Amino acid sequence: MGKDVIVACDFASAEKTFEFLDKFKGRKPFVKIGMELFYAEGPQIVKEIKKRGHKIFLDLKLHDIPNTVKKSMAVLSNLDVDITNLHAGGTIRMMEAAIEGLTREDGTRPLLIAVTQLTSTDQESMENDLLIKEPIDKVVMHYAHNAKLAGLDGVVCSPLEAGKVHEICGESFLTITPGVRFADGDVGDQKRVMTPAQAKEIGSDYIVVGRPITAATDPVAAYERCIREFVD
Ligand code: C5P
Repeated sequence: MGKDVIVACDFASAEKTFEFLDKFKGRKPFVKIGMELFYAEGPQIVKEIKKRGHKIFLDLKLHDIPNTVKKSMAVLSNLDVDITNLHAGGTIRMMEAAIEGLTREDGTRPLLIAVTQLTSTDQESMENDLLIKEPIDKVVMHYAHNAKLAGLDGVVCSPLEAGKVHEICGESFLTITPGVRFADGDVGDQKRVMTPAQAKEIGSDYIVVGRPITAATDPVAAYERCIREFVD
């Protein structure tokens, strides 16, 4: 898979999601389904979006004992998603178990991506709550390296970290980057943002874009603008 724009479908129901997706008559966007929609609608929502011809990033961020993650990943693999993810904090052994569970009998599997430290975790909360005393950027790169060692395909990271991740884990290790905004758009609650063109420049493999597309007056035009800036 090459560079692509993944649209974060952060809707609360299937109805709202389909109302949004129905607008796209041409190119079918790569869609990210998160916990809210998945827990509200169940696996059926994945099957229905897949049936409509979209690729799917199922963003459920698994984190449990290796055996449970392995078995759960086997279930997600049967849903035929294109990308799914987990927390690298679950250890290398958990990530290896995830790959085992995800791999189908014919050897194929969805891409598996790690979350390193959530962007909502800062240095202070990491030190005080998690008792991790190292600098957060070092922790992020260490977790990315662990993911690489476990055989994962990439990490979710800020566009600002994508270059460094590629340096440490290799150019083919995927970087999926949220926090994307148009140069003339609203930043909202995102703190460190980049435009699609800047994310391309810095070497992101996929950008995850939510509100700049879902809340746009013309979502299709906003999506096409992302494609022009990031892919074409
Ligand atoms: O609307 P917006 O473009 O900010 O949406 C970004 C998407 O990426 C949301 O689904 C958000 O949960 C997700 N995300 C993020 N920052 C991270 C990890 C995921 O914004 N560090």
